[in-house]
Amino acid sequence: MMYFHNIIYLCLLLCTGGLCKKERIVGGLETSITSYPHVVSIRNYTTNSFICAGSIISQWNILTAAHCLFLLQNYNDVRIYSGTSSSSSINAIHHGVDYVVFHPDFAFNPEQNLFLHNIAIIKVRSRIFLSVTQAIIALPTAVPFSETVSYIVGWGEVDTADSAIIKPILTMSTAIFINSQDCGTYYQILVYDSQICTVSLPGVGVYAGDAGGSVTRRGELQGIISYTFNRLPRMPTIHTKVFYYLNFIRHHMIV
Ligand SMILES: *[C@@H]1O[C@H](CO)[C@@H](O)[C@H](O)[C@H]1NC(C)=O
Repeated sequence: MMYFHNIIYLCLLLCTGGLCKKERIVGGLETSITSYPHVVSIRNYTTNSFICAGSIISQWNILTAAHCLFLLQNYNDVRIYSGTSSSSSINAIHHGVDYVVFHPDFAFNPEQNLFLHNIAIIKVRSRIFLSVTQAIIALPTAVPFSETVSYIVGWGEVDTADSAIIKPILTMSTAIFINSQDCGTYYQILVYDSQICTVSLPGVGVYAGDAGGSVTRRGELQGIISYTFNRLPRMPTIHTKVFYYLNFIRHHMIV
């Protein structure tokens, strides 16, 4: 069993490393908010343009990537849309932003793919009422084992032309967790202990989701999508490892 598992793993690494012959990379699957009711879209209310995705971790808090909001002067135009599969429908429940707590050591330099401690907690102005389309995702009880399957959910996707696009409907794709050290060694990138690496199944999906989107396994939020190598679609996706930040999250969230 273990042997078989390792063979699959090896194939995955090789395929994602660019040795597969598949020409076309098909995107993730459209899904519904009722399957992932913790997912929200963060938008500019004035222009109704998509900023990032996020996850409901309490009735008052959204967890997202720090870089989504870090450069904004204020949050007057920012709204959190919950309970909708659509990235643009305005007929959805939305919440203003009261304040945002950024990780104090957050650092980023997109040109160098540096996104360190890329995590922020949003406090919304109005309580999020729980329903079949709006739910709290559990924080992780342990780090995921390498080679296990995760679900990546969001509205963004890299298409075959390598350009980032925002999809109208919520999208899900499966990916495999690879431990940070193996991921770093194999792809020759720096992956920190505070980050999680996933690789998509070749020919199935590059990745679904965009910054701030969720990486879940067994009903727990394991990752916040942090960055991808847009121009190299067979590279892994790097996520903020939620488990690493449990103290920070619990300290700032309102339950
Ligand atoms: C939202 O869009 C308006 C109009 O383009 C712009 O002035 C404002 O800065 C934007 N706000 C955010 C939070 O992106």
